[in-house]
Amino acid sequence: MKLLKKFCKQKKEEYQPSQESPKSLMSKEEVIRLINSVPFWWHKIEVGYGLLTPGHQGGIENKTATYETLLRIEMPENLNNKRVLDIGAWDGYFSFEAEKRGASEVLAIDSHYRLEKDSDKSGFEVAKKILASNVKYQIMDVYDISNKNIGYYDVVLFLGVLYHLKHPLLALEKIAEVTKELMILETFYVNDDNKKAVGYFYEKDELNKDSTNWWGFNKKCIEALLRTAGFNKIKKISERGDRIVYHCFK
Ligand SMILES: C[S@@+](CC[C@H](N)C(=O)[O-])C[C@H]1O[C@@H](n2cnc3c(N)ncnc32)[C@H](O)[C@@H]1O
Repeated sequence: MKLLKKFCKQKKEEYQPSQESPKSLMSKEEVIRLINSVPFWWHKIEVGYGLLTPGHQGGIENKTATYETLLRIEMPENLNNKRVLDIGAWDGYFSFEAEKRGASEVLAIDSHYRLEKDSDKSGFEVAKKILASNVKYQIMDVYDISNKNIGYYDVVLFLGVLYHLKHPLLALEKIAEVTKELMILETFYVNDDNKKAVGYFYEKDELNKDSTNWWGFNKKCIEALLRTAGFNKIKKISERGDRIVYHCFK
């Protein structure tokens, strides 16, 4: 854990967004115009010319929050010829990263659960255009995924979504159905001393004043849910504050 923290700190300090022009070769002025056309960004996506999208993840002033999450989840460096599914992709940072790492196909899905507030697909569309990306996007609820609907995926990203779900076990079962190799789970968790598997239910907005947060599980419970859903090999990758990451295999 200490080593990981040190690693993240070093990497964070070294982090510099690329000064190169984006793959689309769009001018800096056009990139800035497009970024400003999006009402709300969640992710801080590198879009060339040393620019990042002004994402709210981790606070608007914190330039490395999305990048730090990338370090914490330990996405495989080489995704050559892999099909990747990103569930709850929002602006698509992790989908674009999977593409950069060689994925042959990336599908980003999101249900836009706060459509009326701040999440829509405009950030994804703008980033996709600037990055000249081939990532596909579908408005889809995690409960609606099945191998019949979307096929199988070598790698599935399930980042920052579990605690937003009323039916987390059902979602994990659906995810297990479409996962071929690896599912990466990143989530809020409750770091309690309980030896039993415990789920804390937030009926209103008790968790971070956000009424879309329903569940907080302790480690025992997350691991039990993952096994019950069909992931037999579970490896804890990192813990930081109230966030935890697992790599899950069937
Ligand atoms: C906290 S954000 C995480 C975004 C991104 N995965 C990340 O880690 O930065 C949660 C995302 O999950 C999406 N989401 C919530 N419930 C969902 C559901 N039932 N099906 C699909 N996406 C969902 C939201 O619309 C939102 O984009």
